[in-house]
Amino acid sequence: MTITVTSLAERFGAEISGVDLTNLSTETFDAVRGAFEAHGVIVFRGQPMDDDQQVLFSERFGPLEKTVSVNPAVGTPFARQSNIDIATGEAMNPDDKRIFYQKGNMLWHADSTFKEVPSLCSVLTAREVPATGGDTQFASTRAVYEALDPSIQARLDGCVVEHDFTWSRAQSGFEFNKAQRAENPPARHPLVQTNPVTGRKSLMIGAHAKCIIGWDEEESRAMLDDLLNRAIAPNEIYVHKWQTGDAIVWDNRATLHRATPFDVTKHRRLMQRTTVSNPAAIDEYAGYPEISQAG
Ligand code: SIN
Repeated sequence: MTITVTSLAERFGAEISGVDLTNLSTETFDAVRGAFEAHGVIVFRGQPMDDDQQVLFSERFGPLEKTVSVNPAVGTPFARQSNIDIATGEAMNPDDKRIFYQKGNMLWHADSTFKEVPSLCSVLTAREVPATGGDTQFASTRAVYEALDPSIQARLDGCVVEHDFTWSRAQSGFEFNKAQRAENPPARHPLVQTNPVTGRKSLMIGAHAKCIIGWDEEESRAMLDDLLNRAIAPNEIYVHKWQTGDAIVWDNRATLHRATPFDVTKHRRLMQRTTVSNPAAIDEYAGYPEISQAG
């Protein structure tokens, strides 16, 4: 098999063909991993996987996160994105709170930035897709950082951002209860992330990014909103129209994504996400006293 990597958008994203994700040699996985570091979002068509195969493929990137308790797949390595009831296999009522909770995924975000140990990447596989709607959109925060004026880059280098899941879900109208708030305390991360393989810089922003530590509240909000708006400009994003059997790996250090609506009364959508943790990132935080003081 010959691996082919084709760019999807001007500044990020690539489609990879000529691989079988359920049976990758070390050499082919290294090529896939290299494409991931270079392109931030890698798309594979025609790679049907069951849960065990997805776990094995995802673990090639690193250790998997456990799913937060508010997701129906709690207790497994999967974050289930679906309108199908996990217990009955039937479509859920549109008013079901599990559907409402998923509306938070329609805000531009990177996964798990609210966790103390951030995520390296996510793997999302399409098990059932709606005939229309339910696309996933992607944006690059590396492209944003690299296009910034050097004076702004210098201002952002060394900044620390607080990410808060309780706060971000409240933006989409979902209030966490006391136990959910306690399970998800805010976490702090360097705003500017440096890819250890390529040396290229990106921004850890998105829906969970609540404030820049030490900045005036309004100024911090304005900066975070401005950076986000640059990332998601319509001509900068990649929109993925899913087919059953597609798999996408995205870099949570350097990209943002969001789910888009579909008619939950007419269509079924089942996507399984595994999220790979990035414990190595913590070593970088030693140079940031605001992070170690966060407790
Ligand atoms: C996610 O936000 O992790 C899932 C995106 C999607 O369901 O399209």
